[in-house]
Amino acid sequence: MTTKPGAGLAGITAGETAISSVGKEGMGLNYRGYSIYELAEHASFEEVAYLLIRGKLPTSQQLKVYIRHLMSLRNLPDALKTVLELTPGQSHPMDVLRSGCSVLGTLEPETPENDEYHIADRLIATFPGMLLYWYHYHQNGKKIDTNVSNESTAGYFLHLLHLKEPEPLQTRAMDVSLILYAEHEFNASTFAARVTASTGADFYSAICSAIGTLRGPLHGGANEQAMELIEKFTSPDEAQTQLHEMLKNKSLIMGFGHRVYKTSDPRSNVIKHWSKLLADSVNDQILYPVSERIEKIMWDEKRLFPNLDFYSASAYHFCGIPTNMFTPIFVFARTAGWAAHIIEQRQNNKLIRPLAEYTGPSPRPYVPVEQRVSSSIQDS
Ligand code: ACO
Repeated sequence: MTTKPGAGLAGITAGETAISSVGKEGMGLNYRGYSIYELAEHASFEEVAYLLIRGKLPTSQQLKVYIRHLMSLRNLPDALKTVLELTPGQSHPMDVLRSGCSVLGTLEPETPENDEYHIADRLIATFPGMLLYWYHYHQNGKKIDTNVSNESTAGYFLHLLHLKEPEPLQTRAMDVSLILYAEHEFNASTFAARVTASTGADFYSAICSAIGTLRGPLHGGANEQAMELIEKFTSPDEAQTQLHEMLKNKSLIMGFGHRVYKTSDPRSNVIKHWSKLLADSVNDQILYPVSERIEKIMWDEKRLFPNLDFYSASAYHFCGIPTNMFTPIFVFARTAGWAAHIIEQRQNNKLIRPLAEYTGPSPRPYVPVEQRVSSSIQDS
């Protein structure tokens, strides 16, 4: 079947946004006008979350207050802890976050007092704790205290995961990764959040839609699948041989290609740099060289480039993060972008309801059940 122009809304402008601009040639991704290169170099994730949700960079005093505010919102309600304890230990962590978000929405529903800004901050503050409370309860039989004192979301997550103070290099790498993942215009999960928000639904429902949409391997789930690919190989040469085979069989190589970018993903080189620093810090001799070889083959053979997910996979692995937590980290970060988009959608709302081109049968008379005859062997 041939793909029609506009399939998957490719190339269609589906609305306006003042939150980010995505350069079509792989250049110039900006959050509210600021280059992601400058933000990744100089800012913290909390500064970027403030920028995205509140529309402007915080002053140093505002940033201090914001960080304290996020820290004060980390406690998990007892009822939520009980649900996390009852959630099966073998669940996918994305399902844990989707359910956790929904439960929080029943315990602390959106009201004029508990407004969209407060819920956005609360979710950013609680998602790492939700995930790791569930993880330690089921993996180690421990009910962890989620109120640890790391200021950054990155350090907080690593501390709760490893139950010790994280290393500064890993913390900063995670911080940069959260900045890079925080926002990306009308990507699938953000669009899903906006569609839900456009119906007048509550904030939590829009975030649940976004989490469900992010989970798929063509979107956020690609970072986990990229890791599964990279760790299959014991050397760059083995990767080369097998990758050629996979390409011959028309396999999709996860972590490569992009719907909007055509020559490179501007975020990829930034996370690649951090992946290399982390690889050197653990004296890795396999995963990073394998990743670079895969990158070279994909470019030579298909003119496809790594997207943000590809080198994020090895970077996270070097930080000791289990693979099935890679997409949840995307959630921690992208909640800032989703929140900004839900707020923007609500400010100038119009129900999102496109048309479909009908391809089914022409109008025909209804046949009562007793008069229907089977028309094929499969029907019998
Ligand atoms: N591996 C192998 N071939 C690929 C890949 C890939 N990763 N990506 C695209 N191609 C090929 C397609 O098979 C297709 O070839 P054909 O014309 O011979 O059929 C051609 O390139 C065009 O690809 P489409 O799927 O039509 O491009 P689309 O814009 O629909 O897809 C997408 C973009 C979904 C990201 C795609 O590149 C893909 O599936 N990549 C792997 C999943 C992935 O990494 N997703 C993460 C996205 S970024 C993010 O969420 C941070």
